[in-house]
Amino acid sequence: MVTILGIESSCDDTSAAIVRDGILMSNVIASQAVHEEYGGVVPELASRAHQQNIVPVVDAAIRRAGIDKKDLSAIAFTRGPGLIGSLLVGTSFAKGMSLGLRIPIIDVNHLHGHVLAQFVREKADDRVPEFPYLCLLVSGGNSQIILVRSYNDMEILGRTIDDAAGEAFDKCAKVMGLPYPGGPHIDRLAAEGDAKRFKFAKPHIAGLDYSFSGLKTSFLYTLRDGIKADPDFIEHNRADLAASLQRTIIDILIDKLSKAIDSTGVKTVAIGGGVSANSGVRAAVAELCAAKGVEAFIPERKFTTDNAAMVAVAGYFKYLDKIFCPYDTAPYARVEI
Ligand code: KG4
Repeated sequence: MVTILGIESSCDDTSAAIVRDGILMSNVIASQAVHEEYGGVVPELASRAHQQNIVPVVDAAIRRAGIDKKDLSAIAFTRGPGLIGSLLVGTSFAKGMSLGLRIPIIDVNHLHGHVLAQFVREKADDRVPEFPYLCLLVSGGNSQIILVRSYNDMEILGRTIDDAAGEAFDKCAKVMGLPYPGGPHIDRLAAEGDAKRFKFAKPHIAGLDYSFSGLKTSFLYTLRDGIKADPDFIEHNRADLAASLQRTIIDILIDKLSKAIDSTGVKTVAIGGGVSANSGVRAAVAELCAAKGVEAFIPERKFTTDNAAMVAVAGYFKYLDKIFCPYDTAPYARVEI
């Protein structure tokens, strides 16, 4: 029996999960409300909150799984990319606990975790994708199309050259006066709006890469009165602005995903990352896959945003391949898969 504790502390969620023989036994997430009043994550406050949360969160994950800490085979932790102070909390905790229990540690790339979120199974017969497949990874910091050949072998085919899709949602939402993070608010408002009302710029980027900064500029331009966003205009056009913005982001994402399906000939497509919680993105990916005759894997919403279940699962597959890390492993703020 292989039992893995996963720890996620890359941004503003402290999370711990237990996976036993590939099946999720518990997944505990403590979100940090402290950032709301600042309109974005404040790194120093995030690391302090992680320090307060980590012991009770790990303890709750072990108890809810109905196991003892002595049953653990290894501890997997998010090494990066993310906020360095936050990552240090999870990394140091994992090292200390593994030394105490005399079990190995496994470093997990956060993006690798998002990709493998498709393999978080709550029951043994839950469906999982077959290799090779494409993963559209769309989060607050990343927008990538990844060819996944196996659990520990993946290649980025396209990536954003500037902002990420989640950033486009959040930054445009911010100028509309919506709370952080704005993505879910745009999603909610978009359901009541006319997506054809406003036209925003779409990028012309070669290959499978993305760009979202031009869209952001053209969105700001639409809202402005002189050089400032016009509050009356925003108030009267809230739903249409949200719907048109969401539609444009989806069109940009789907255009490259469609090209990637054609050029690779894969038979399966999955989505991951916080933006894959978006109702429009989920529907558009399902529609594209149906039209192309490929299978779509749309994860449950609770596994799209940051969580330790995906870290524990990624750690589980590394454990099976005996890929561990030494104790001088340091976290990293930025890296590619
Ligand atoms: O993967 P994630 O939790 O972590 C980061 O990479 O930061 O993604 C967070 C991102 C934020 O930009 C948030 O606005 C976006 O995911 N997001 C959404 C929705 N839910 C979360 N964007 C659009 N629609 C949603 N329903």
